[in-house]
Amino acid sequence: MKGPILNRNEVLLEVKNLRTYIETGAGLVRAVDDVSFDVCRGEIVGLVGESGCGKTMAALSVMRLLPEPYGKIVGGSVYFEGQDLTKLPEEEMRKIRGNKISIIFQDPLTALNPIMKVGDQIVEAIVSHHPIDESAAWQRAINLLQSVGIPDGKVIAEQYPFRISGGMRQRVMIAIALACNPTLLIADEPTTNLDVSIQAQILEVISDIRRRTGTSILLITHNLGLVAWLCDRVFVMYAGKIVEQAPTEELFANPAHPYTELLLKSIPKLESSKEKLETIEGEVPNLIRVPPGCRFHPRCPYVKEVCKKVEPTLFNVNVEHYARCLKHTAEYRLEQ
Ligand SMILES: Nc1ncnc2c1ncn2[C@@H]1O[C@H](COP(=O)(O)OP(=O)(O)OP(=O)(O)O)[C@@H](O)[C@H]1O
Ligand SMILES: [Mg+2]
Repeated sequence: MKGPILNRNEVLLEVKNLRTYIETGAGLVRAVDDVSFDVCRGEIVGLVGESGCGKTMAALSVMRLLPEPYGKIVGGSVYFEGQDLTKLPEEEMRKIRGNKISIIFQDPLTALNPIMKVGDQIVEAIVSHHPIDESAAWQRAINLLQSVGIPDGKVIAEQYPFRISGGMRQRVMIAIALACNPTLLIADEPTTNLDVSIQAQILEVISDIRRRTGTSILLITHNLGLVAWLCDRVFVMYAGKIVEQAPTEELFANPAHPYTELLLKSIPKLESSKEKLETIEGEVPNLIRVPPGCRFHPRCPYVKEVCKKVEPTLFNVNVEHYARCLKHTAEYRLEQ
């Protein structure tokens, strides 16, 4: 559950006007197109949007782990503890990765080494940053497994990844990400492919991390239900842009962008996995050729002519609440 924000005023991560493009045979994919967001110390921030909106590319840009050699940060900055990570030499960046900032990847099975015991994989993460002797590291690995809700950590540490369940693997991934007490944890869809009861347990583990350690968390998901449960603030991403941002309660009470409104209607319920969800009609555009004007206009129930021509800027809806929608402009209101 949501907890007290430890230091709301101290910005830990500040992504400013970030542009990340990927060169492909079909053209240039503008995966992250002038994106700004921030995470304060001790805060859990959600980054939400449908598949293909650029969430993972935004996270990989922060870590500077973009697909080589085609993915590149072409503009903007990523300030972490006041330092612009986009300007750091790779050697310095390596010290930050897995030490100060950790990431839990979308797919634990491909992220884990299939031929290495899970305990050894956690030990490797521990000793790569803090040289301690192996038995102490092994004990710490077991403690980490216990801290992510695996009471029989000793038994699980001896297993290979394919021998344990999907939920267990995800916990192991979290244990690895926590091995070095990161200041910032990025969790990219940490509960996809897990059944609902396991999802709830993983969420509990994540919220417990913040409660115990004060680690800031950037939670990436397409599920606003998870956000309601865990996050202090939310950034909604659509087709490479942030279209709305607000404190969680404000966003749920007063969504100002039609995309957010529709996402809210499509929240899966944790209790009932079989319930039919309302889906948003149409598709996220190809990020090589985005629609002119507002990128959401082809799918928007409130579309007017102006939306097809004018690119919206962020409109200040309320305290800390912004939306990139023309509905809030005089031009839109005056159009018949
Ligand atoms: N390795 C790659 N090569 C080329 N294009 C890519 C690559 N990875 C992602 N993309 C493109 O970049 C855009 C953003 O993708 P990204 O993976 O960041 O989306 P996402 O919001 O994380 O989606 P999902 O919810 O499915 O994980 C998409 O248009 C995608 O097709
Ligand atoms: Mg993704």
